[in-house]
Amino acid sequence: MDERPIYLDNSATTRPYDEVAELMYNMMKTKYGNPSSTHFIGSEIASEISVARKIIADSMRVAPEDIYFTSGGTEANNLAIKGVANAYQAKGKHLITSAIEHPSVLNSFKDLGTKGFKTDFVNVDENGVVLLDHLAKLVSDDTMLVSIMLVNNEIGSIQPIKDIANIVKKNNPSTILHVDAVQAYGKIPFFPYEDTIDLVSISAHKIHGPKGVGALFSNGRIKVAPMISGGGQERNIRSGTENTFGIVGFGKAAEITFNNLDEKIIQLKQLRKMFKTKLLENIPNVMVNSPDRDELCSSHILNVSFMNCQTRDIIKELEKRGIFASTRSACSCRKSEKSHVLKEIGLSNERIHTAVRFSLSYFNTEEDIACTVERLKDIFGVSRNARHYNNVDYKAG
Ligand SMILES: Cc1ncc(COP(=O)(O)O)c(C=O)c1O
Repeated sequence: MDERPIYLDNSATTRPYDEVAELMYNMMKTKYGNPSSTHFIGSEIASEISVARKIIADSMRVAPEDIYFTSGGTEANNLAIKGVANAYQAKGKHLITSAIEHPSVLNSFKDLGTKGFKTDFVNVDENGVVLLDHLAKLVSDDTMLVSIMLVNNEIGSIQPIKDIANIVKKNNPSTILHVDAVQAYGKIPFFPYEDTIDLVSISAHKIHGPKGVGALFSNGRIKVAPMISGGGQERNIRSGTENTFGIVGFGKAAEITFNNLDEKIIQLKQLRKMFKTKLLENIPNVMVNSPDRDELCSSHILNVSFMNCQTRDIIKELEKRGIFASTRSACSCRKSEKSHVLKEIGLSNERIHTAVRFSLSYFNTEEDIACTVERLKDIFGVSRNARHYNNVDYKAG
């Protein structure tokens, strides 16, 4: 059997493009200035940042001056939610999100809940899709912000963001809509001005860029109170010397990702479909936790339960065979509590404790998928070791 490592944990992070690594390395050696310095060494890196800002703005068809660089998706989410809450608290104290958001959103809501804001959580259906009727009931005159992710990081469900925007703006035109698009950026096209989305969070390391850099799109009409006090970089929204090399790397990653994007998305969809079919055909007792209908799911995430085997055992067995997958968001998977997302969509304990998230990237090939299924056949089966997994006490985990 082919023994090479196969990386299927791209929702946690992606391998940077070679072009990104090379560009960042060259920049470190040659363009090391501070973009706020007025001399040549400073202004040459400032113009590289402008190039990156323009590439990222173009990818969402927005104006470059509406892009603010941050240290990643977590900071962009915090800045959007807390920045808006602080700027508009005189106008309303009601905030809405869903219960399947990333911890950076859920914990921002939790923080604001302790500071006098009223928080509500819109229900999702069994596919992890927001229930629009429930949302319509929740949005009131007092609702200042709605924050909903575009693609869920554990199961890949895609939210009907245009419908969400229509409901929010119809019920209360002054409610601000924030979208955590960290998993969607470079996988699902979205256009904030056309879709009436006011704020969007994105992150470089999910699109083969460097870690520690992201961005917040904030429509020029929206006020966002800064969270960090300092020298007023990023037009007073995000102080601190810019992560210059990271920003330039982010720009390059976006340029490569968005080149021929439609074709890449089609290929990734086919790859995911092939993976799902092969798993269901070849591995016994597999249940798909991602949305059943492919059009409701992002092309890069496939969450399944191997009903005979606890998650930690299957991850270990996969790793022994050179396959790297995970359970849920990288920041949560070391904690022992069960996935809030799988719980919210109503899965049984048995399914939750046997779930694995495979996440693909534009680097993965059909051969990777075929090999992964062969190695899974070796683990289950299909294989001599199968008995080992047949009597697992699901509730123990
Ligand atoms: C949906 C979602 N939002 C936010 C984040 C946080 O992004 P970052 O790792 O850049 O802080 C992640 C990371 O996994 C994510 O999946």
